[in-house]
Amino acid sequence: MNKRFTSVLALAVVLTAGAHRSEADPMTLKDACKDDFLIGAAINRTIATGAADNANRSQEQVEKDIALVKEQFNQISPENDLKWQLIQPREGADGYDFGPADAYVNFGLSNHMYIVGHTLVWHNQTPNWVFAGTNPPPEAINANAGDGLAGRPAGRGFGYGGPRASREELLQRMHDHIATVVGRYKGKVKVWDVVNEAVADNGTNILRNSLWLQIIGPDFIAKAFQYAHEADPDAILRYNDYGLEGASKRHKLITLIRSLQAQGVPVMAIGSQTHVNVSSPSFETEDQALTELATLGLPIHITELDVNGSQGGRRSTGADVANNAATTQGGLVDNANQRLANQYASLFRAFLKHRDSVKVVTLWGVNDGVSWRAGGRPLLFDANDQPKPAFDAVIKEATPQ
Ligand code: XIL
Repeated sequence: MNKRFTSVLALAVVLTAGAHRSEADPMTLKDACKDDFLIGAAINRTIATGAADNANRSQEQVEKDIALVKEQFNQISPENDLKWQLIQPREGADGYDFGPADAYVNFGLSNHMYIVGHTLVWHNQTPNWVFAGTNPPPEAINANAGDGLAGRPAGRGFGYGGPRASREELLQRMHDHIATVVGRYKGKVKVWDVVNEAVADNGTNILRNSLWLQIIGPDFIAKAFQYAHEADPDAILRYNDYGLEGASKRHKLITLIRSLQAQGVPVMAIGSQTHVNVSSPSFETEDQALTELATLGLPIHITELDVNGSQGGRRSTGADVANNAATTQGGLVDNANQRLANQYASLFRAFLKHRDSVKVVTLWGVNDGVSWRAGGRPLLFDANDQPKPAFDAVIKEATPQ
């Protein structure tokens, strides 16, 4: 190859490197988004510890997954290991299992990543002992709760139904849990999902009829934020929920946050999970959602992004863990890969338009193989960690042309 041709080729590589992925200089998500927001992924235990511990992922695959996380992302969230059930399965100061959570935090520190903590107070993945005590349970769960549980007997698969803790006991447990967990990772975990999914999906009530609400009352949210702020005054404290693309749930959330703000509760960021599908939201709907959320004057974090490409995902637009199985049934939609790419392009166009508010975008999983909605092939990388057309679509949106 003559010299002149080589330098023309080199120039061509430099000129195109900004816009395209090439063998020589592949564009990564974190480079493409670097002037806009942090870009991250939820990582599971095998990635955090580096040890394949189940049949789903071989050691070789786990190592590829880890390399991909380091290559593409500058932020991580823990998919499960900081949830109450995993980190404090038993009551008391001896009831903690810190091992996997420590591995998660160390993974972030050693790779210089922005570390999120998820989650302190939630109605799911919380062990029964937290709510247990000597007060008799009510006969039936409240009507008009908006969570599909109206009139059902307490317990029986709808959460803990036995004798309950008092308000004071539950507040004490919440305090001790938050002080211990947030305190342990003080200065390392930069953002906490303090309260997760407290807003009701349906009906007129603002708050979901959870055991937290039933036992403590509506100020369980303010208390959780207060305890977290005491434990780490520098941490960004987030309220996190799903379904905020829909106007009615979003309006409930806005009412809730405004009331917390009026009381001086230290809520510092809005987490919008953004578990969506290939048909909705449209660009206009997402744009509208972000415009309205931004009126709260807080940073917006897209906390659990994935785009369900299955038939089942079009019917069920929520992200209630209890109903997850149904959301990926029925096989993929026609032309799923292309529709996925189009939807990711549209979402990132909206995030980028709102880059003054959107500060973090986290994908809920590293690749389709480890996703909680694997059947809907909802992520940017396939189960072999190869980029899909949706990856190219995101890079294209985030890279100035
Ligand atoms: C999911 C995890 O991805 C699954 O592995 C687990 O079995 C259930 O929880 N909203 C949240 C996340 O806030 O914590 C949930 O994560 C998905 C919905």
